[in-house]
Amino acid sequence: MTGAIVITTPAELRDRYQLGASVGLVPTMGSLHEGHLSLIRRAAAENDLAVVSAFVNPTQFNDPFDLARYPRSLERDVELATSAGANLVYAPEVATVYPAGFATRVHVDRITELWEGESRPGHFDAVATVVSILLNQVRPDRAYFGEKDFQQLAMIRQMHRDLAVPGEIVACPTVREPDGLAMSSRNARLSEGERAVAPVLYEALRAMDEAARGGERSSLKLAILGALIVKRALEIELEYLQVVNPETVEPLEVAIPGARAIVAATIGDTRLIDNLELLSGES
Ligand code: PAF
Repeated sequence: MTGAIVITTPAELRDRYQLGASVGLVPTMGSLHEGHLSLIRRAAAENDLAVVSAFVNPTQFNDPFDLARYPRSLERDVELATSAGANLVYAPEVATVYPAGFATRVHVDRITELWEGESRPGHFDAVATVVSILLNQVRPDRAYFGEKDFQQLAMIRQMHRDLAVPGEIVACPTVREPDGLAMSSRNARLSEGERAVAPVLYEALRAMDEAARGGERSSLKLAILGALIVKRALEIELEYLQVVNPETVEPLEVAIPGARAIVAATIGDTRLIDNLELLSGES
């Protein structure tokens, strides 16, 4: 198998494009895991060229210590991306993304004020800005994002619509470990004991879905049910557990089909998020 080619500038990237060939982009911060690979496989299946961007975006870290300890492993990422069908890995320098004198920030109102926005000030502006830059530099026909970061996905969809960015945003389902834990680069930070209790988040989300399917449509009661399950694991500090509108991420009083249950919790030093569509397949 020929390895994916590493590219560091938008001009070099576009030199590789062929007229009329479709391009799929999977934006990542590297440190690829099975969740990313499922996005890359889909991008490779649906496009002539699959591009994976691997850029650790410095502006989206609230804590400089977090940025410093973020794992960087380009060689391994290129191997994994290749095995999933990527043709090009776009790994720009910071100065290629933020040239000297850079002074623009993309801000999406409302969606960014809730949940993750509350606990990570400025984070979503940093993500909206870098995603806008990557979409403009790579110019994909389709860009693939995981549902795991559900609020991020909702924000990107809104930004994409509002700014009339060409191409399509494709949402991909969360990939889970066999015990239900959503795949995330953060899972590697969990100790053995913490890892053992982490699947309780998904257990709570599933219990909420089951209760909704059984007829309980009060979001408050569903959230209480989920919280009681999470709180069984004493090591976990629950930050939020809510039923929200899947487009605006605003709280819903009544769980309707398609509503999203979202959760954030801290285990030891690691903050985890997860979500689940409620009543999927029902109308
Ligand atoms: O989800 C991520 O990995 C990042 O937020 C993204 C979309 C690659 C932007 O840096």
